[in-house]
Amino acid sequence: MSKVTVIGAGNVGATVANVLAHRDIVKEVVLLDIQGNLAKGKALDSWQQAPIGNYSTFLRGTDNYEDTANSDIVVITAGVPRKPGMSRDDLISINAKIVNTVTESILKYSPNPILIVVSNPLDVMTYAAYKKAGLPSSKVFGMAGILDTARYRAFLAEALNTTPKDIQAILMGGHGDTMVPLPRYTTVAGIPVTELIGAEALDAIVERTKVGGGELVQLMGTSAWYAPGAAAAQMVEAIVKDENRIFPCCALVNGEYGLDEMFIGVPVKLGKNGIEEIIELKLTKDELQLLHDSAKAVKSVMEVYDQMTL
Ligand code: NAI
Ligand code: 2OP
Repeated sequence: MSKVTVIGAGNVGATVANVLAHRDIVKEVVLLDIQGNLAKGKALDSWQQAPIGNYSTFLRGTDNYEDTANSDIVVITAGVPRKPGMSRDDLISINAKIVNTVTESILKYSPNPILIVVSNPLDVMTYAAYKKAGLPSSKVFGMAGILDTARYRAFLAEALNTTPKDIQAILMGGHGDTMVPLPRYTTVAGIPVTELIGAEALDAIVERTKVGGGELVQLMGTSAWYAPGAAAAQMVEAIVKDENRIFPCCALVNGEYGLDEMFIGVPVKLGKNGIEEIIELKLTKDELQLLHDSAKAVKSVMEVYDQMTL
């Protein structure tokens, strides 16, 4: 059974740890935060839930990287969340320093982990962790597509008065307002979604999905955590159980979809080695154009990062 570390015991990190514990698929989850007592308190609270939640996964809170030694998977959620009026990209200078420090510290004690990045701006923070870690790109990737697709699926389920369980969808591109939901690859119990909903209503859902993170920031004054935490935990589960599940993840592309070396959301197979395969869909000219527009937006943030002295 695996050891998983979650860095950052804030809203998202604590949710990842708690959802994972309920899955009962790993031996231990270490929750690390610079606020050591916060990590210790949340881990203890979650462990005390074990007799009720009926799981054996032990949760340990800490501010000491020695406790993370020999982790198989590390989820990085440390950083500052978006506040109203702030774009994900505004976070770059603060979070890049944090992600760099955290990655360096993890690698000191776990020589060969799989890193799942959650901190924003997601695509560029994944790139930062990849550069710092020196691990193969199959082992460093980011969580965004599962969350963005979940929002899209939830909106569709509500509009169609059905269950999100029956809605299958894929979405590509950067984790930002340029993301590319793909109605052509969206089905409801196998039925193409376009047979069940009008173009105007579907367009409205696509547009709402693109700004889905911002909608929650406006409502709560900070960014979301239940769906993001569960999404990262689902990635861990696919790896631990070697499921080869197909999810949209932020991965290093190198020629796929005609994109130069960069991190962006694409469909991948997730299994015990991390990214087992990047799946290349046959996109239409318009879909490909939207993906390239999104890549351009991600690249502009990558350039900001590349010019920063950290
Ligand atoms: P939060 O403020 O609740 O928690 C962040 C935690 O990170 C805090 O407890 C803080 O003490 C800790 N931290 C800061 N620097 C640290 C360091 N150097 N080492 C260890 N811990 C450190 O924030 P929340 O809501 O949990 O969000 C975390 C990050 O995830 C943000 O960057 C947010 O934008 C991002 N996010 C990304 C999503 C995605 O789809 N990729 C979705 C939701 C949030
Ligand atoms: C979200 O999409 C802010 O990235 C965060 O909820």
